Amino acid sequence: MEENSTNFIVMGASGDLAKKKIYPTLWNIYKSGVLPPDTRFIGYARSALTVPQLREKSEPYIKAKDDEKAKLDSFFAANDYVKGSYTEAEAFTALNDALLKIEKGRKGNRLFYLALPPSVFDSVTKLIKTQCMSKTGWNRIIVEKPFGKDSESSAKLSKHLSSLFTEEEIYRIDHYLGKEMVQNLLVLRFANAIFQPIWNRDNIANVVITFKEPFGTKGRGGYFDEFGIIRDVMQNHLLQLMCLTAMEKPPTSDPEDIRNEKVKVLKAIRPLELSDVVLGQYAGDPEGEGEAKEGYLDDETVPKGSRTPTYAVAVLRINNERWEGVPFILKCGKALNERKAEIRVQFKDVPGDIFHGKAKRNELVIRVQPNEAMYTKVMTKKPGMSFDPLETELDLTYKLRFKDVYLPDAYERLILDVFGGSQMHFVRSDELAEAWRIFTPLLHKIEEGKVSPIQYKFGTRGPPEADKFIEELGFVYSGTYQWLPSHQ
Ligand code: BG6
Repeated sequence: MEENSTNFIVMGASGDLAKKKIYPTLWNIYKSGVLPPDTRFIGYARSALTVPQLREKSEPYIKAKDDEKAKLDSFFAANDYVKGSYTEAEAFTALNDALLKIEKGRKGNRLFYLALPPSVFDSVTKLIKTQCMSKTGWNRIIVEKPFGKDSESSAKLSKHLSSLFTEEEIYRIDHYLGKEMVQNLLVLRFANAIFQPIWNRDNIANVVITFKEPFGTKGRGGYFDEFGIIRDVMQNHLLQLMCLTAMEKPPTSDPEDIRNEKVKVLKAIRPLELSDVVLGQYAGDPEGEGEAKEGYLDDETVPKGSRTPTYAVAVLRINNERWEGVPFILKCGKALNERKAEIRVQFKDVPGDIFHGKAKRNELVIRVQPNEAMYTKVMTKKPGMSFDPLETELDLTYKLRFKDVYLPDAYERLILDVFGGSQMHFVRSDELAEAWRIFTPLLHKIEEGKVSPIQYKFGTRGPPEADKFIEELGFVYSGTYQWLPSHQ
């Protein structure tokens, strides 16, 4: 018999997140054969469900291939389901009994994934603590955003969690930290001698971090309206990308050393003012197709007259020796012209130009998605008889260079990290508090109605005022160069 038993408990197993994301992720990790032996998956929710019903709900999202059916059967054979309330101690005692039965006296390690609405978060975490903690092995608690709505509510939540669990037991997911190119940032920056000497205010003019989605809030308007694009994407995902781009080299690659450096970046940023942002909200495009005809306010789940931004660009300034004077521009929006997430480091003009202004700025672009790539925009002599400079690129497109490499989904990497006990790609409580410190005053001003978002048409680049704002911050858009994904 195995010495240890590992149980992954999905709290909220009957919900949308569980069927669309968690079970498919668990399946992918399971089939890759990297989990501890004898890992079991225990769903917990209020609905009366059986494992076959759970399978029926999640199988469309699991997308197993025909030749994987036997493996899928064995995955679901490793599943259990316990029905119970989110507020009653007896229900959690029953869950604990079920876990003890599986553990059969072995050392029991337990991971609790909280896929729950905020309304039951408090009671569930308390009851896990009082009734369900393993006394023989480790316990790890995985939590998802929202981590509060502002400094105060987030501090309350952090206090609540830390009254129950140690920081080592808490895994706060920001799924951007699980993406290939985001994890690559540390290697790119600190394993290449060529980038070290140029990564500073002497050489870099600005950094633009972009997140674009070509769809609107799609019936999620009710949820979204409470949060807005700044809380949904900017204050977490984009800020994480910014920290990894701007941080100093940690003394070691230890997770705590890395997270310490990220916190230092945040501490050097002052809270944002209204003048640091341009906000937008999408309107329907009467000539668009399907969803594009509908504006944000046409969504029935959105309160009438809402001023919640669906687009935002903000400039953050890091007041330290490396970055003073370099604008970090964070830009994100829904219902735009394309899907893209990238970090664009724009270098300064070449001093002492001898090419009559024809030399354009170098840029290093880390393309997070889709189509992972890293490319540097460089000038070359136009091939042939001409002596003119031409914009081209040094291109590392992953699809071309690493042809048959499987890039796991962000959730797969992060959940596997929890099994392995690595907190490197998770958000620490002080990091979270700093992030809220920067955004809270701005969010409150927006909510007090001190600013109205500018309307932009579904499927466009966002409000033209945002482009102007970025230009005024010193970003130079040449408009003459376009990276061709993978150069098919
Ligand atoms: C989520 C946001 O955190 O990230 C969503 O709540 C957004 O609004 C999503 O669509 C984007 O994630 P990805 O991995 O598809 O870029």
